[in-house]
Amino acid sequence: MILQEISCQQRIDVIMLHSQKGGPGKTTLSCNIAHELARRGKKTVIIDLDVAQPTLQHIFNIPKKDIKININDILLSNGILSENNISSTHIPNLSIITASEKIAHGEGLLSLLKSIHDHSHFILHELMKSLQRMGYQYVVLDCAPGYRIESVHAASIADARIFVIRPSTFSFEGAKEMLQDIYKKLSYQSLNFFVFNQIPPELKDKSLRLLKEWKEEIENKTGTDNIFLGFFNLSYEIIENCIHGEYFFPKNHHLYNQLYCMVDTVTRNIDLLKKDEKGASSKKRIALETANVSTKGD
Ligand SMILES: Nc1ncnc2c1ncn2[C@@H]1O[C@H](COP(=O)(O)OP(=O)(O)OP(=O)(O)O)[C@@H](O)[C@H]1O
Ligand SMILES: [Mg+2]
Repeated sequence: MILQEISCQQRIDVIMLHSQKGGPGKTTLSCNIAHELARRGKKTVIIDLDVAQPTLQHIFNIPKKDIKININDILLSNGILSENNISSTHIPNLSIITASEKIAHGEGLLSLLKSIHDHSHFILHELMKSLQRMGYQYVVLDCAPGYRIESVHAASIADARIFVIRPSTFSFEGAKEMLQDIYKKLSYQSLNFFVFNQIPPELKDKSLRLLKEWKEEIENKTGTDNIFLGFFNLSYEIIENCIHGEYFFPKNHHLYNQLYCMVDTVTRNIDLLKKDEKGASSKKRIALETANVSTKGD
């Protein structure tokens, strides 16, 4: 009977955004991916797992009084999650679990607590099961950079990890380390993707060549385990929109087209992975031609 109930439940797919260094665009891409999934009619929840520097409640303009539970409470087993205490956003089909801005809940304490080290993997796993029972189809996890314990645990429960890299030598070196350290080991029964973001438009040819070499080096070092999602330009229009509190790529913007392809690539590969009972072989993975380096500006 229980087995029957579980098999009738809709699938839930978990996508996490991560990086080794701070600031490459995880939060920006997380919000836009979640927004796009919801726009496609998928019941989606975005979770702020960056407990040191919560951002999502501001991006989605969630008033404090409307937040009934946050990820800190969940990780510390201080509250019970129910359909009624997950906040909705102004976007149809998109809900949100924010992180607390109280210092006592933040960086200094939460990540260092023994209970978080011991239990956050299990709690995150159970959280996904609860969200699945509530009918969510996609979870997008916006994570803190680096080797923070919640991010590593999130990586291990995700179906797809999107690693975001900025075009600098130290970001590239850090990314290579992390992709080999953790991601390669986790690639069994789940998927790794990477994307370069904030590429300045109108780069010199020698810089473009180097970026392409970096992409190939990552692919060679990690085998076919990593699927490249594209080179995303730095956009002055997107930066200017942020001044006005607008974080979603406009529909007529080239970054929206790239994001659209990115969402297609990730969701279709998760489909392939989950439909193949033995686990998707790398041969079956599809890399859509998301974008070449663009040399045009906004
Ligand atoms: N393609 C882009 N074009 C222009 N600005 C961008 C682009 N991607 C991200 N940004 C800007 O870069 C800044 C950092 O982005 P974001 O906060 O998404 O990074 P992050 O990886 O989440 O950072 P952190 O590691 O601190 O969580 C933001 O101001 C964002 O608006
Ligand atoms: Mg962020």
